[in-house]
Amino acid sequence: MALSYSSNKLLLFSLFCFISIVGFNLKAVIAYSNTANPSATCNTNLRTILPPPYSDLSSLSCSHIWQQKFSFSFYQDGQNVTTIVLSGKNNHQWIGIGFSRNGSMVGSSAMVAWVEPNGVSGIRQYHLEGKNMSKVIPDKGDLKFTTARPVVVAHGDLLYIAFQLQFAASLAFQPILLAIGSANPYKNGSLPKHINSTTTFIEFSSGHHLTSHPMSPDDLRKYHGVTAVIGWGTVTPAGLLVARYFRHLEPSWYYIHSSVQFVGFFIGIVSISIGRTLYQKLGAVFVAHKFLGYTVFCLAGLEVCQFIGRPSSDSKRRQYWNFAHYWVGRIAMVLGLLNIFVGFHGVVAHDRLMRIGFGILFVALLTTMIFLEVRRRRENLIPETMIDQPPVFQVIDKSLTTGHRKSVS
Ligand code: HEM
Ligand code: HEM
Ligand SMILES: *[C@@H]1O[C@H](CO)[C@@H](O)[C@H](O)[C@H]1NC(C)=O
Ligand SMILES: *[C@@H]1O[C@H](CO)[C@@H](O)[C@H](O)[C@H]1NC(C)=O
Ligand SMILES: *[C@@H]1O[C@H](CO)[C@@H](O)[C@H](O)[C@H]1NC(C)=O
Repeated sequence: MALSYSSNKLLLFSLFCFISIVGFNLKAVIAYSNTANPSATCNTNLRTILPPPYSDLSSLSCSHIWQQKFSFSFYQDGQNVTTIVLSGKNNHQWIGIGFSRNGSMVGSSAMVAWVEPNGVSGIRQYHLEGKNMSKVIPDKGDLKFTTARPVVVAHGDLLYIAFQLQFAASLAFQPILLAIGSANPYKNGSLPKHINSTTTFIEFSSGHHLTSHPMSPDDLRKYHGVTAVIGWGTVTPAGLLVARYFRHLEPSWYYIHSSVQFVGFFIGIVSISIGRTLYQKLGAVFVAHKFLGYTVFCLAGLEVCQFIGRPSSDSKRRQYWNFAHYWVGRIAMVLGLLNIFVGFHGVVAHDRLMRIGFGILFVALLTTMIFLEVRRRRENLIPETMIDQPPVFQVIDKSLTTGHRKSVS
């Protein structure tokens, strides 16, 4: 019996480890399931198209970025000089590539290239001081050129944009902005807004090799938010409701409660894992939210691992342990819900649908809780003593004791 009890614990603990590991790695599956056919080509010989120093990039590795519609080559030398060639279909009025500190447009500097109807091409630096035409300033910005002049070449149906920049420090993992416009810049240099834009991430530090993250921060934010709302905002609170108000359904409540909590915790881990990636990508300073998120994770982890260190049911300490288990669970739920509000509050983006969805869910949860609490008190379905001394793992204990009895007799 001692053996079967501890092997039961071991099984549950392995299950816990397994879902934690899978949960933390699931985001990679989501992130890399994102593929499309490249329309910009990486295997053209730049020597026949571009003058030096850009022609030398031919031999270097090249990557498809932004839904594979653009190709991007670079070389960074030991003097922090970076040479870049970007090419894409020549059917946009302008193509812009920007260097951003945190992945957002405001505050960054961009190179914008275009081709006039008469075939004359141009390239210019813009300082993106705001998201309004009047705040996008031509011939201004933080990018420092070397003696090599930027060039724009239309070749076949592709437009090649090449430039060389001197940075103060070597580039490492760098957010790169890309945007395309549908109208040419005006005579005074002011730029009409893009019709499409994205942020991508380039690893400049790994020598000639390039990796870009296929998932934009916007997608990551969406998946993080959705999984957080489902995991911490819906499934785990529902599991707690089952434990509190459906205890009279012996013994199913226990199985429903623990499986629902396992599922909720799993989705919650996926959310935290995506949150971590998002945090790194955005370089976000969102300390309260991050701290609350990890706190919720630790508390919920304690709940799921409740079988570790639990005193036996006849021990006096068991009562205190049950009390702690209950309050840790409630606190985790409240902090998880709170952190959803904090998460939404920190986001400037315009994802109203998710907020409204969560608002409805939250009101539904509160209403259900009040309804069930009132009903419980009125009908007194469950004796008060049962609430105060929750029979945690009662079902397993029961089967174990009966097993014990059998093996004794
Ligand atoms: C006159 C020029 C520009 C205007 C008026 C403008 C305006 C805006 C606005 C209003 C947004 C918010 C999202 C949306 O409504 O679509 C935005 C986002 C964005 N823009 Fe621009 N933009 C301009 C030029 C550029 C350029 C030259 C680049 C880069 C090459 C760029 C890159 C981005 C990126 C990556 C985003 C999404 C990330 C973020 O929201 O910070 N924009 N822009
Ligand atoms: C209980 C855990 C968590 C919950 C319930 C939660 C919830 C949320 C929600 C609802 C959003 C808004 C999403 C949107 O509007 O699309 C958000 C944003 C965000 N979360 Fe979390 N989150 C949690 C944990 C974490 C952790 C652990 C981290 C980082 C280590 C993190 C990093 C972020 C970041 C960087 C944003 C975006 C902020 C911005 O765009 O400015 N989250 N979170
Ligand atoms: C953009 O700036 C112009 C003035 O240059 C102003 O009239 C307009 O309201 C601004 N638009 C936004 C969305 O702020
Ligand atoms: C290049 O950047 C590094 C830091 O990344 C700096 O220590 C070094 O002095 C820079 N070199 C030049 C030539 O600017
Ligand atoms: C521009 O945005 C649309 C969605 O609005 C998308 O389908 C399309 O692929 C985007 N174009 C580029 C060049 O990424």
